[in-house]
Amino acid sequence: MRLQGKNAIVTGAASGIGRACATLFAENGAAVLAVDRPGTDLAGTAQAHAGIRTLAADIAEAGSPARIVAHAVKELGGLDILMNNAGVSHRAFVEEMTEEDWDRVFAVNVRAQFILCREAIPHLKKCGAGRIVNVASVMAEATDFGLGAYCGSKAGVAGLTRTLALELGKFGITANYIEPGAIQTGMTAKGFSEPHIAEVWAKKSPLKRLGQPIDIARGALFLASEDGGFVTGHGLRVDGGLMLRT
Ligand SMILES: NC(=O)c1ccc[n+]([C@@H]2O[C@H](COP(=O)([O-])OP(=O)(O)OC[C@H]3O[C@@H](n4cnc5c(N)ncnc54)[C@H](O)[C@@H]3O)[C@@H](O)[C@H]2O)c1
Repeated sequence: MRLQGKNAIVTGAASGIGRACATLFAENGAAVLAVDRPGTDLAGTAQAHAGIRTLAADIAEAGSPARIVAHAVKELGGLDILMNNAGVSHRAFVEEMTEEDWDRVFAVNVRAQFILCREAIPHLKKCGAGRIVNVASVMAEATDFGLGAYCGSKAGVAGLTRTLALELGKFGITANYIEPGAIQTGMTAKGFSEPHIAEVWAKKSPLKRLGQPIDIARGALFLASEDGGFVTGHGLRVDGGLMLRT
């Protein structure tokens, strides 16, 4: 029960990594507000644990981050942990990428994360030991064909989070980001349903397997709990060693 008495927001919580984090946080005693877009399977996440409440909201919509934070503070009674997990990807070579594609990726992956952090900060200050856990990617450090917008956005998450750590340390707030490797989720389902693609990515890890959402949730729990109390501004790779070799 490493999050007993804590209140947490987890975005992108209807699927994959977000659902696993919301569930593990609740299993560890947190009251969780699970947020995802309207029409997603938030009910499935709520079923995982009685400590999970849900809110359907598009984090990239104007005014949405403020509404999400206000809702969490009202319904949960405060805010100790903000986990910015929601993210989108888009594949297009830079030569062919539209501004709209670029803007959409940045609107969700970076801009909404920034606004959610900004709105949460006054409440995190009040609790004395606030936690921000942002989800980046190993693609903050590496790249692949067609991932210009995604890689740029995840590098943005890293830079934003390091700055948050610097600015918020004096309030007892830590800010860290996770760099997941190749994880089996909704985002990667199409690619990894092809056995040869799944095999290539599994083989890149010295552990010879793809990651599961729970692998990331365990890293997030560390950063969100007292265990990670002296870790801030850090990018935690949870990638099964994927990045060890080029
Ligand atoms: N799966 C991987 O291999 C991998 C690797 C590195 C990083 N990540 C990152 O992990 C995070 C979680 O992704 P996942 O792999 O679990 O994918 P996923 O598609 O299973 O989950 C992402 C969730 O985010 C939600 N979301 C997207 N846009 C949103 C918006 N505007 N408002 C609210 N919710 C929104 C989606 O509806 C979805 O439920 C993302 O930030 C992703 O970039 C994933």
